[in-house]
Amino acid sequence: MPRALITGITGQDGSYLAELLLEKGYEVHGMVRRASTEKFDRIEHLRDRLTLHQADLLDHRSLVDALRAAKPHEVYNLAAMSFVAVSWIQPTLTAEFTGVGVTRILEAVREVCPETRFYQASSSEMFGKVLETPQTEKTPFYPRSPYGVAKVYGHHITVNYRESYDLHASSGILFNHESERRGLEFVTRKITWHAAAIKTGKRDSLQLGNLDARRDWGYAKDYVEAMWLMLQQDTPDDFVIATGVTNTVRRCVEVAFDEAGLNWEQYVQIDDSLKRPAEVDLLVGDASKAERQLGWKPQTSFEELIRLMVRSDVALLS
Ligand code: NAP
Ligand code: GDD
Repeated sequence: MPRALITGITGQDGSYLAELLLEKGYEVHGMVRRASTEKFDRIEHLRDRLTLHQADLLDHRSLVDALRAAKPHEVYNLAAMSFVAVSWIQPTLTAEFTGVGVTRILEAVREVCPETRFYQASSSEMFGKVLETPQTEKTPFYPRSPYGVAKVYGHHITVNYRESYDLHASSGILFNHESERRGLEFVTRKITWHAAAIKTGKRDSLQLGNLDARRDWGYAKDYVEAMWLMLQQDTPDDFVIATGVTNTVRRCVEVAFDEAGLNWEQYVQIDDSLKRPAEVDLLVGDASKAERQLGWKPQTSFEELIRLMVRSDVALLS
């Protein structure tokens, strides 16, 4: 039976990846942080089928112990401080978790299980102030946030360990992906949750920042399949995972409020404090390498995604 260890298993992607690997017959191990109150909502339905190990990306010893206990054939490094806006508030902690944390887990893999296949969760945020459109694996990086800078470090150190130590280490450059399990602070879920809350009488307005930002939004369930496919290849490599379609935040609002049967202009207010010190204006990815080499294609359109998120939030709040 193949064994996998997922860091960040309590997050959006970790929970979907755990489901996918269990379906495929894996023994699934997850790394979790100690907290005074456990928040394992996204994996509660899987708890009796998972083995959880307490560890932290800041603590080398705990990473080594988790790897020794799990003996994984595959490691998926999804753990990170993943909210861009907070990376300006906690820039050095973001660098530690999201950047140097990647070196710590790579070092632990090298020490304990160098034959293990390794996946690094890289990000389209690395393209930042984009130098070409659409963005491919060859597009130079120009990060625009402390989070983006930390992800560039994590990406390069993964490539470097592959080349220095011959590790089977791959990096997925994933564009924004969302779901019913998305954290409430990210813009799509903030919008779908508020549309549902206004519809059900629990809120009466929604404050947003920049409505003109454009993102290439896909469905997290489709994207975790790409992570797994990367680790099934004989040769490790880097892949862009995206839909190839870009939409504005404004369009996201229009679709969500339409699904809720509401006129968004009556409820949405602009709050300048939600605008970022430096913005990523446009992201749109070219995933043709993934389609060619992995046989991966997105299955869910932007509109389907936003509408299913609204329906889920209405059910949640009703
Ligand atoms: P998420 O929902 O925010 O989950 C992040 C996970 O990381 C949580 O399980 C969190 O644990 C864990 N974590 C944070 N700091 C940690 C630490 N010091 N030690 C151990 N665990 C830690 O993020 P996501 O959307 O699933 O994204 C997964 C990964 O893909 C992240 O690396 C993210 O940066 C990257 N990414 C995401 C997207 C996207 O659009 N979703 C796109 C590109 C790349 P707690 O539950 O304890 O907080
Ligand atoms: N969060 C948020 N809240 N964003 C807002 C708001 C608001 O009220 N109003 C406008 N936006 C704009 C942001 O300025 C940004 O341009 C866009 O909406 C998307 O913001 P987020 O949903 O927070 O995502 P992100 O693109 O910054 O980062 C996500 O995608 C990256 C991949 O490109 C995260 O998942 C990162 O972890 C991931 O790497």
